Amino acid sequence: MEASIAQQIVDARDLAACGQPTCALVYYEALIPHLSKYITTLNDPYKQGQYSNVLKTLQEERRHLQDIELALYEFKKAPAAASSRPSQLDDPFSRSPADVHDGYRGGGPAADRQDGDPEVWRAPAKAGPRTGTSRPRVPGSNPEDRMPSWARKQPARADSISTQSSAAAAGNRRRAASISSSSSSAAGRPLAIPARVDSWHRRPGSGAAAGAGGSAQGAAKAAGVKKSEYLGPDGDLVANLERDVLDRSPGIRWTDIAGLKEAKRVLEEATVLPMIMPEFFTGIRRPVKGVMLFGPPGTGKTMLAKAVATECGCTFFNVSSATLASKYRGESERMVRCLFEMARCYSPSIIFIDEIDSLCTQRGAEGEHEASRRVKSELLVQIDGCHSAEGGERQHVVVLAATNFPWDIDEALRRRLEKRIYIPLPELEERLELLHINLKGIDVEPNVNFEMVASKLGGYSGDDITNICRDAAMNGMRRKIAGKTPAEIREMSKDEMKEPITVEDFVQAINKINPSVAQKDVKRHEEWLKVYGSI
Ligand SMILES: Nc1ncnc2c1ncn2[C@@H]1O[C@H](COP(=O)(O)OP(=O)(O)OP(=O)(O)O)[C@@H](O)[C@H]1O
Ligand SMILES: [Mg+2]
Repeated sequence: MEASIAQQIVDARDLAACGQPTCALVYYEALIPHLSKYITTLNDPYKQGQYSNVLKTLQEERRHLQDIELALYEFKKAPAAASSRPSQLDDPFSRSPADVHDGYRGGGPAADRQDGDPEVWRAPAKAGPRTGTSRPRVPGSNPEDRMPSWARKQPARADSISTQSSAAAAGNRRRAASISSSSSSAAGRPLAIPARVDSWHRRPGSGAAAGAGGSAQGAAKAAGVKKSEYLGPDGDLVANLERDVLDRSPGIRWTDIAGLKEAKRVLEEATVLPMIMPEFFTGIRRPVKGVMLFGPPGTGKTMLAKAVATECGCTFFNVSSATLASKYRGESERMVRCLFEMARCYSPSIIFIDEIDSLCTQRGAEGEHEASRRVKSELLVQIDGCHSAEGGERQHVVVLAATNFPWDIDEALRRRLEKRIYIPLPELEERLELLHINLKGIDVEPNVNFEMVASKLGGYSGDDITNICRDAAMNGMRRKIAGKTPAEIREMSKDEMKEPITVEDFVQAINKINPSVAQKDVKRHEEWLKVYGSI
């Protein structure tokens, strides 16, 4: 959780630093409520204070970005006035506000803003060659290169058709590569790929594309596809989504996860088995549409999803809510639609949406933005169509969602996530297993009683236990290097550094690290499980 928040902060600040206030604001708006919620789950007052300071800073930064947006809007208010200043435009060192953000280029406020909705901006214009002057770019200095791909400018269609088609073709090649790699890493079942976008609705395994036996180049050859023919609907968006969300086997297996037997069984039944024996999962035994993993932070929800991806051998789409949150009107819905269309095409597939609470809170809640409501509605419609039979063949797509705040999820979405699995804090046996998993290959003194250590870790999450193991394992090294200069430390060999973990190391680590999960949070989850749990 903390790592994901830190990453989101880095992304948001990166975008702000790249001069993309609108995109950055999208991140800040997802991040700030997320962080405030997280702070309420903390019971360590020191940590709470630190995070509250971070929150304040982020709110301040968001205010600055809003000011910048407003200032840009003011600049754009009088386009005629702006264009009647040729001397400024001629000066290659003065940038027009339109150059600062392409989303504001041309058309003035009436064209940029959606009628009646001052909050939502149109997506950056796609058509039309770039006009006006701009500073020549230093190669490699393009700030867009550092942005998430979905937020990058889309290639202007009118500029050159071959630019787009080659980008899209590159996406096609990437898709081909990723599928063939996932097919070889998984259960050995080859997944064929549609060779071109206009074969979206062709099921893998049928037609010329599949004739090449899953080999991308072979399939493309068999279909006689030329790069320039790759001009399907939303080709650019598809290429972006593939790059951002298509997960190449994350490499985590069931055996890497301690305990959670019931969760593994339900996940296997809901996701893995229907892919292995689809003929059995028909009629009343149809596979579930969605599964929700909920529980306190650091209990292994994301790990479980990654294990599903590795074990089931299907196409895995790993989507974060931030990817789907676009402030541009219509862009998020389009992304959701496109994502599900891709998933159906690559069926069987799993769409994993981590931290879904930041995307799918109750509709109609106070302060809810209209754009966000539309994304939720689109998501509901798409989940309903997950198992649609197309061309007489059933397509298997499962939505897997994870959250720390199940009570915030929209009720219609909750209904669609038919299996709602509680991922609790580890019990004694699981804690013991966690100690063994974490300390695999590490020297531990023979007199360390793991059962005793595990019994002291009641109330700690899996992540906390990993931290304790890490800290205990560092203690030996700390003792070895105490009082030495950096030069002396550099001289030390690897073997000299080695020192087995002692009971004292565990005691010290446990004394230093408190559980990260509050008891009241656990209670709240248990109460929600009683009312809405479903396995
Ligand atoms: N059951 C488990 N088995 C093995 N490792 C675990 C388990 N639970 C947690 N961990 C450890 O905790 C870390 C965090 O786990 P993970 O990211 O899956 O938690 P999460 O439930 O998704 O948390 P959050 O709700 O904050 O996103 C893992 O990298 C792993 O080291
Ligand atoms: Mg997680």
